[in-house]
Amino acid sequence: MKILVTGGAGFIGSAVIRHLVSDTGHAVVNVDKLTYAGNLASLGAAIESERYAFEQVDICDADALRGVFERHQPDAVMHLAAESHVDRSIHGPADFIQTNLVGTGVLLEAARAYFESLSGTRREGFRFHHVSTDEVYGDLDGPEGLFTEQTPYAPSSPYSASKAGSDHLVRAWHRTFGLPVLVTNCSNNYGPYHFPEKLIPLMILNARAGKPLPVYGDGSQVRDWLYVEDHARALVTVIESGRVGETYNIGGHNEHRNLEVVERICALLEELAPRHPEGVTRYADLITYVKDRPGHDVRYAIDAGKVERELGWRPRETFESGLRKTVQWYLDNHAWIEGVTSGTYRDWTAKQYGKHG
Ligand code: NAD
Ligand code: TYD
Repeated sequence: MKILVTGGAGFIGSAVIRHLVSDTGHAVVNVDKLTYAGNLASLGAAIESERYAFEQVDICDADALRGVFERHQPDAVMHLAAESHVDRSIHGPADFIQTNLVGTGVLLEAARAYFESLSGTRREGFRFHHVSTDEVYGDLDGPEGLFTEQTPYAPSSPYSASKAGSDHLVRAWHRTFGLPVLVTNCSNNYGPYHFPEKLIPLMILNARAGKPLPVYGDGSQVRDWLYVEDHARALVTVIESGRVGETYNIGGHNEHRNLEVVERICALLEELAPRHPEGVTRYADLITYVKDRPGHDVRYAIDAGKVERELGWRPRETFESGLRKTVQWYLDNHAWIEGVTSGTYRDWTAKQYGKHG
């Protein structure tokens, strides 16, 4: 297949493209606007492959998208381009509505026009795979219960609401126009090339810099963590073998409280980077409780039974092995970190964390 991947310069998109190029025979067209979260350096050697092409395009630009479909004639679309950070969506929801909702609508229309121009086996084989989040389901109150594909939507943040809206658009394009869609909803990812505004890389980099580790509220909220390369394999499995019109939940069976995650990172750093920054005796001493996130979801947890049973996908990493690899990766990759934590990122941390940044 030739797969048009949107958002391929982001955290998960780049993992998908690295996997497609190094482990499969598929070709890739990376369509990315290169916002603050997009970085071509995250693609590594994939960029050199003759099965890789890049188009710097905003998914809200209908004309540009039409040109991309005409030039590349893809067999499938995997849609990951999005604004993805909950805290940014609280400070400025407009970009989330624009890219996640309007952009998905524009992309669906471009894909539909292209799909309708196809015939025979190319038309039968065409797929539009929408990559979404478990946050569309809202949150779970207590320690029991899991999100299934039947859980009603109840998003809490501007981010999750815009993703929920995009999921609805994709399903409507299937029912009304017959576009052959697949939808996946995944839990929190972590791993290499994760932009350092998110919990795990932020804590690793702050700890190494001797800065406070800002835990929102009391740190009791629970997330279900999946190593990004396991997610990338799941996405490729779904686009290759998923049933048209179906939704698949993807998760790692790795539920942990935020405070526990931060403490584990500190413990790994004690082992892997025992030379502390000046003035720091133990990394865990840097843990600082800060004002809670407005509307903070309490617990996410995924039932990934359907994708496991129907498509045979299983995560390979445990939280222990994946977190160790991740911490080591951030210790080893200064050039990438320098490249993404430039001026505009510093503006964000000043706005979000003030004196705790
Ligand atoms: P990311 O923020 O790291 O990357 C997003 C990419 O999209 C960037 O390369 C950015 O340049 C690009 N982009 C943004 N707006 C664009 C536009 N208008 N046109 C073209 N490109 C644009 O995000 P991520 O963490 O890699 O997430 C990818 C997808 O997976 C998102 O749809 C997200 O909702 C979903 N998801 C993420 C997680 C997670 O834990 N990170 C979990 C489940 C689902
Ligand atoms: P995040 O990585 O932003 O992912 P999401 O909000 O999509 O789950 O946050 C993960 C959890 O960590 C979430 O409960 C909020 C919390 N958190 C902090 O406690 N401190 C921080 O500085 C950040 C960025 C997140």
